[in-house]
Amino acid sequence: MTEPHPTLQDDAAVAWLRQVTPYFRKHRNKTFVVYLDGAALAGPGFGNLARDLVLLASVGVRLVVVFGARPQIEQRLAELGLSPRVVGELRVSDAPTMAAVREVVGALRLGVEASFSFGMRGAAFGGDPARVAGGNFVFARPAGIIDGVDLMFTGLVRSIDRDAIEARLDAGEIVLIPPIGYSPTGELFNVKAKDLAATVASELNATKLVLVGGRDGIEDGQGRLCRQLTLREARELREHKARDDGERELLDSAVRACQLGVERVHIVSRFVDGALLRELFTRDGIGTMISSAPFDQLRTAKIEDIGGILELIAPLEEQGVLVKRSREKLETEIDEFVVMLRENTVVACGALHPYAEQRSAEVACIAVHPEYRGGQFGDVLIEALERRAREHGVTSVFALTTQAVQWFSERGYAVATLDDLPVARRELYNYQRNSAVLLKKLG
Ligand SMILES: CC(C)(COP(=O)(O)OP(=O)(O)OC[C@H]1O[C@@H](n2cnc3c(N)ncnc32)[C@H](O)[C@@H]1OP(=O)(O)O)[C@@H](O)C(=O)NCCC(=O)NCCS
Repeated sequence: MTEPHPTLQDDAAVAWLRQVTPYFRKHRNKTFVVYLDGAALAGPGFGNLARDLVLLASVGVRLVVVFGARPQIEQRLAELGLSPRVVGELRVSDAPTMAAVREVVGALRLGVEASFSFGMRGAAFGGDPARVAGGNFVFARPAGIIDGVDLMFTGLVRSIDRDAIEARLDAGEIVLIPPIGYSPTGELFNVKAKDLAATVASELNATKLVLVGGRDGIEDGQGRLCRQLTLREARELREHKARDDGERELLDSAVRACQLGVERVHIVSRFVDGALLRELFTRDGIGTMISSAPFDQLRTAKIEDIGGILELIAPLEEQGVLVKRSREKLETEIDEFVVMLRENTVVACGALHPYAEQRSAEVACIAVHPEYRGGQFGDVLIEALERRAREHGVTSVFALTTQAVQWFSERGYAVATLDDLPVARRELYNYQRNSAVLLKKLG
């Protein structure tokens, strides 16, 4: 009897499962704070977004959702014939304005809770259904008088009741936080939701802050979406290349959250169905990720880095993990290396050797100093090399490795054969080393 062959569809399903399952383990028990701008709650895509959030919670993410309400508040104020003064970025919240804010935010909160209840029915992973927790988790104080104008019930975040939020997360609940803060004297203040989300993320030592809004991500000044930014790059874009106030504000929140210790900030669009899942469960993501990895610089290597690179790779060459490279070879190829520096020391390096005719390139000599391993330096490095490859029109990258097959596989590389290599590289293949060939198509 012949074995039934898997269909193409089965293969795609298996490939998909292989790609996403490592993320389940990676994200489990991690705290993510997701900010939803007010428009995200109003659009037709919110049902799916709510389901995706519930799915995140159901795979073990400790999930806090902070929402904004700007368009809904503005609409309600217009209906009431109120046009409050704006000072800088802040609206003056007098008593009638605050009454409208309470009404709108209360209704939005009920709506979000209802969507989450609906979302639970669709959650694919069974177990106890996630519950939504609300409460007086945020304390605020008046923003005070700015330029001589009293902002009244417009507030600034004073503190977060971290223990109370953690207790709800420990109980497996999704914590929902509206843009409202309470004062010890029992007053309510309207706070800026994006700032609130950054503060909550930092107070909870969140692994990720995800900002869901009206943009695909951050652009590089020439209209290209940046998939990845270091904190330093994000600061530079903020200063010199931000498209408009909206992008500047997004970068402000991201930079602030990173400075406050949040490892990664993701910016994704509410207009793309499934954007949240694509960002968090695929290697390349879909929006922009800003990483606060603790290195000072990631840049193309210079001749003066050669000593540092040699120091880093020599022990790995000794162990046979990396192929030996002479100083002379390094000198001629130095432009193809990137280095990560910490306090003027090379703590990680990697190279991209192009095969321009085949629109292919080799990712090589990736090394992270032992003291810095497990801190996602490798991740940031390989993503920087792939970004470089894309910028040069490369459509697939490959790696030859004896020790890191699994590491590359988890980063979207598939085992390939020698025939998949450009001929020039195949001819240099060292049969004695018998390295595995790994290949990744760049989207
Ligand atoms: C492989 C290497 C670059 C990873 O650097 P890193 O900064 O520690 O990587 P990240 O922090 O992004 O990823 C760490 C994860 O990869 C895993 N990992 C590290 N080395 C691995 C390997 N050789 N095989 C499989 N997984 C590996 C870690 O266990 C960790 O897993 P976790 O997230 O489940 O805890 C680093 O270990 C290194 O320099 N190794 C020696 C050189 C080498 O093998 N280079 C690759 C050939 S070019």
